[in-house]
Parts: sequence; structure tokens; C-alpha cells
Amino acid sequence: MTTVQLPTKTPTYIENLRGSYWITTFGCQMNKADSERMAGILQKMGYQPALEELKADLIIYNTCTIRDNAEQKVYSYLGKQARRKQLLPHLKIIIAGCLAQQEGEALLRRVPEIDLVMGPQHANRLETLLNQVDNGQQVLATEELHILEDITTARRDSTICGWVNIIYGCNERCTYCVVPSVRGKEQSRSPHAIKNEIEDLARNGYKEITLLGQNIDAYGRDFKAGDHNILNQITLSYLLEYIHDIDGIERIRFATSHPRYFTKKLIDVCAKLPKVCEHFHIPFQSGSNQILKKMARGYTIQDYKAITNYIKEKMPKSSISADAIVAFPGETKLEFEETLSIIDDIKFDHVNTAAYSPRPNTPAAKWPNQIPEEIKIRRLKEINSLVEGIAKEKNLRYKDSLQEILIENINPKDSSQLMGRTRTNRLTFFPSSSKDGKSHKPGELIKTRIKDIRAFSLTGTLV
Ligand code: SAH
Ligand code: SF4
Ligand code: F3S
Repeated sequence: MTTVQLPTKTPTYIENLRGSYWITTFGCQMNKADSERMAGILQKMGYQPALEELKADLIIYNTCTIRDNAEQKVYSYLGKQARRKQLLPHLKIIIAGCLAQQEGEALLRRVPEIDLVMGPQHANRLETLLNQVDNGQQVLATEELHILEDITTARRDSTICGWVNIIYGCNERCTYCVVPSVRGKEQSRSPHAIKNEIEDLARNGYKEITLLGQNIDAYGRDFKAGDHNILNQITLSYLLEYIHDIDGIERIRFATSHPRYFTKKLIDVCAKLPKVCEHFHIPFQSGSNQILKKMARGYTIQDYKAITNYIKEKMPKSSISADAIVAFPGETKLEFEETLSIIDDIKFDHVNTAAYSPRPNTPAAKWPNQIPEEIKIRRLKEINSLVEGIAKEKNLRYKDSLQEILIENINPKDSSQLMGRTRTNRLTFFPSSSKDGKSHKPGELIKTRIKDIRAFSLTGTLV
């Protein structure tokens, strides 16, 4: 170890020091994972995290375009940075992610201050792309690409829970959804590469991993048979068994599941493997078979119920969450009520809800039977109040129960408390030290007795 003084000969780390960066991430976990990898690349290049967005020398907006409001948010952020750049020409503005892919060159035209527009498949290529920017070019990187295995270490937000991509892209064609056109075709990572990444996380003290994919249960279907005939058998069930026994990892989760590919075998494997947590996020989108057909989802609501029934049979303590869209084009009052009734019937622990938003290059956006805004708002309000009521009712089962919590952090609103999640993914707060003075810290698995119940979180005492 040497003490750093201002040297006459510049050491490498200062040569590498490029300034500070700031990344704002919109959208889903896929984008969050991409942002962590891009941050890793920037740090390796010599950039340091900025303390404030408005002081950074390099800005990345990792964007989302799933609904119109997600898209508009990005433009309002961007305007601010474009004005800043007029005063600070060295500022680099990068638009990454799904909106970047959707808009491509149009973004460069609309906001000429942007230096780089890069689609999600290019996240691992950030260094190469920035070198092109340094040569004074405006760069566009949106061509379809085979995603490179990540060779950089991600700079992860958590030191306890890590995201692990296992499949990129989406091969479905839901008629409302922009994801296939912005995230490209499905590309599964090899089980070997996935295992390596998890082993590395375990060595660095991580305790929980969440496997990520848009349709995670379709994992492996893009592997070709033939020479690697064995690959025909590589499914999510196989992968869970393959990675299960990595020392140090205590919990395994995965998201998001598509009902069409959620097999009984997968449920059996989850029930059998102790580290796989009993929480399943399986979007159903609508309770009406007519609407599901128009959405091109490929299952009926009866198929969906068969899955949740089997989960409840095999894992009675499990929690189930989902996504649902209201006011899809042509949705009648009755069809909307079918969505409400399935929520009441299945008793979801949580449902992410949204009013249908027409997206560019998707079939449903062109249909004439769009639902007026005021009905969208009314239906959304109605479904949200049902979801909240049921979540609260379902949480009653935790009252006075003993729950295992993986401590993730200090409660940012009360530093005398820690926070973590139950195996079923409920956010739980509890005191950081017990009555005998023993204190706890992030990364530990502890038991709490649940005392207070709210719709989306719990408070417990230490046992
Ligand atoms: N692959 C997952 C979900 C990906 S997108 C699946 O198939 O279920 C995340 C959620 O955004 C979707 O589940 C859906 O509920 C919502 N969503 C997607 N497109 C939308 C649109 N055009 N309008 C409103 N919500 C939408
Ligand atoms: Fe979108 Fe459907 Fe693919 Fe999910 S499965 S990402 S909703 S197209
Ligand atoms: Fe948004 Fe792209 Fe995810 S559109 S929801 S960030 S896949």
C-alpha cells in the first residue's frame, strides 16, 4: 500500500480518471440489471459515480417505453440535460434501453445534444461505443445483435441480492406489447455461464439471486438440438437444479413467468428445492378469455387457474403476484369485471396494474375500439382499490407468525430499523438490535415475529 500524493509522474489511475457518471434507470428489472453492468464498465474505464445528476460529466438515461407515460418521463429529463450541454460542451449524454431502440435515429434528430443512442442489446458494448463518441462522432447502436457474454463485473446496487440475466429478449407477440420489437429475439445464456456468475456472487458475499428474463420459463427453448442434443433438456427446471447447491447462496428467485410455459414440473421442482423461495410472479393480464385471445396470450383463464391451484396445493404458504391491464381495446364492462373477479378468486398478494397504452408498431394500437381516457382512469382506480384490499386481507395470515427474513438494508426512513423480505417477498421492517443488545446487519438471515400488517409491508420484532 502506498499513500497517494500529487506525483510528478501521473499514475495510471489518474490517467484513467475520466470524470463522473450518473445513470437514471426507468422500467423493469431487466433495465436495472443492464444499468449495473454499464456502471461496471464505466468504473473500469475510470469514471467515478457522481454525487448529483446535475453535476455529472456523463449521463445515461436507461429508458423504458412500455407505456406512453414511461416514454414522456424520459423526454422531460432529457430536455434538462440538453440545456446543460449548451453551457458544458464536454457533457456526454447517452440514451440507452428500450426507448433508444424504438426511436433510434429519430432521437438524435429530436435532441441533437445526444452523443449516443444504444439499444438494450448493446449494453455490454458501452466502452467501444464511448470510444467512438470520443472520436467526435454521434453514435447510433440499435442493430440486432448476439448479446456478448459479460466480461465486466457489474457495479451492483445491493451487496446482498444480485440479479442474474438468464434469457434476453422475447419471442411472444402479445398484441399490446412493445418488448419484442425493442429487446429482440430470445437468447438464453448457457447454464455454465450463469453458474459462473452466481458462484462469483457467492464468493463476494451475496446471499440471494433473482434470475431474470421476460419469459423466464421459456429459458432454453432457443438452444438448438443436434450436436448438443442434450440441450433439448435445458429448461428453467433443469437450471434451478443445476445452480441450486452453490455454497453461500441462501435464496433463489426468478421473474417474470409466462403462464403458457409454466409447467407442473417447474412447480414440483420449486417445491422440492429448499432455496427456491415460494413467491411466483405470473402475469395473467386479463380475466376474460375473449380479451386474452385478442391479446394473443396463448392460454385461457382456466389454464391460469390450474397453475395457481397447483402452486397452492404444493406450496400452501406461497405468495402469488401478477400484472394486469385494464381497458384493453374493446374491453366491455363485463370483461373488466371478469378481471376483478379473478383477482378476488385467486387472492393475489399483489397485482401490478396499468391502463392499456397504445404503443408504436403493435397491432392493438391500430384497432378502432380504443377505450376513452375517463373509463381507463375509472377502471384503474377500481382495480387498484380491490388489489390493495385483498393484499391487506392476505397479509393477515402473517399476523404473529414467525418469518425468516434476509436482511437487505437499514430502513432509510428509520435508522433504528433494518429491512428485508420474507421468503414470500413481503417487505418487512424490524428493530436492528434485540432486547439483549445483540445487533444484526445486512446479509444475515433472522427470524421475526410479525406484529403490524399493512397492504404492502409488515413490521416484526426480533425473536
Ligand atoms: N413478459 C411479461 C411482462 C412484460 S411487460 C409477461 O408477458 O407477462 C410488464 C407489464 O407491462 C406487462 O405484464 C403488462 O401488464 C404491462 N404492459 C405491457 N404493455 C402494455 C401496454 N401497452 N399498456 C399497458 N400495460 C402494458
Ligand atoms: Fe410483452 Fe408478451 Fe413478451 Fe411479455 S410475453 S414481454 S407481454 S410480448
Ligand atoms: Fe420497459 Fe423495456 Fe422493461 S420497455 S418494462 S424497460 S423491457
